[in-house]
Amino acid sequence: MANPMFNLLVSPLLLVLIFGSTTSGSSASVVVYNVVSMGARPDGRTDSTKAFLDAWEAACASVRSAVIYVPRGQFLLRNAATFKGQCRNSDITFRIDGVLLSPPYFSDDHWISFQYVKGVSIYGGTLDAQGSALWACRTEGHNCPKGATSLFFSNSEDIVINGLESVNSKMFHIVIDGCKNVDVRGVLVKAPGDSPNTDGIHVQQSTGVTIMRSGIHTGDDCISVGPGTSNLWIEQVDCGPGHGISIGSLAKSYDEPGVQNVTVKGVAFRGTTNGLRIKAWGRPSKGFVRNVLFQHAYMSNVENPIVIDQNYCPHDHCPHEGSGVAISHVTYEDIRGTSATQVAVKFDCSPRNPCTGIRLMDVKLSYNGNHAALSSCSHADGTAYGFVIPASCF
Ligand SMILES: *[C@@H]1O[C@H](CO)[C@@H](O)[C@H](O)[C@H]1NC(C)=O
Repeated sequence: MANPMFNLLVSPLLLVLIFGSTTSGSSASVVVYNVVSMGARPDGRTDSTKAFLDAWEAACASVRSAVIYVPRGQFLLRNAATFKGQCRNSDITFRIDGVLLSPPYFSDDHWISFQYVKGVSIYGGTLDAQGSALWACRTEGHNCPKGATSLFFSNSEDIVINGLESVNSKMFHIVIDGCKNVDVRGVLVKAPGDSPNTDGIHVQQSTGVTIMRSGIHTGDDCISVGPGTSNLWIEQVDCGPGHGISIGSLAKSYDEPGVQNVTVKGVAFRGTTNGLRIKAWGRPSKGFVRNVLFQHAYMSNVENPIVIDQNYCPHDHCPHEGSGVAISHVTYEDIRGTSATQVAVKFDCSPRNPCTGIRLMDVKLSYNGNHAALSSCSHADGTAYGFVIPASCF
């Protein structure tokens, strides 16, 4: 990103611009691969997977900054599109004006994925995974494919996702796993509130991820944060419908890395099942959660606005062993709005590993408009500062 041409690429008008020789003798230029020139068809019916992969192969092998351009129209990617590194190139931009379509039935785990890449940016575009047939199949309990993540980044660094829209994913919309330095901005995620497992953005085993100015309206967590996440920054996100922003579920396994240094600020939750949630299964684990700041959140009719659940178990076969995930130094500051249930603040921690260093500052939550809300604590230790309604139960 130190490349001075990077900023110029932000304008599509400059796409075709070839930079003349600016420095002594060497000619710096951007090479553009238009997927249509490489055989893709914008008709929504012809499989364009090969053209996209060919464009990627050429860009990946190039030593010049490369743009893969997807013009207007609908492009069917019938098969898994896996863009793999290592590349010679560390400056590849997808500029997408069109819509990428996935077939309604699909058997792979990931639809569009990037693995072992560095310096990849995606600007614009719509990913439409056409998940409704699969959700219906799963709701009816047939033997259905398990569904694919729409956009998956693994083991990659210096990634930008800007202005992308993801609709009706079959499973998660976007997953960031094992990555470093990822900037997600101006993203719009859309799926019905009752679509199963359509999490918006899931981050795990990653450091330096920023998610800003995005709207996430879906059937599961707006953003979920898995083990091994550090230095995560979430700001100005609109969430709902959905299950809120969740750290967890954790304690899935014993040897699990912790989650630390997470900031969530300026998020609005509308009609979600949870607001700011931390959840861990009740079983031994080396995992932990520490140094989390939840700041300036607005809740509108949220079922559980503030919740720590160390006994997470949505179905049967609950472990009941007490969570081994230690939760400490979590701050809630300036959290306002309405709860759809009476208990607006709930810290359900484990006797084996009580929550410590919880701080509530300027919290004002009411129940259903203007009834008094309650808070509930079990094995939670902390401090309340300023104006805290409902009164804290530490
Ligand atoms: C916490 O994460 C932010 C980015 O979200 C980073 O700027 C900051 O340096 C990190 N702090 C520590 C102590 O690592």
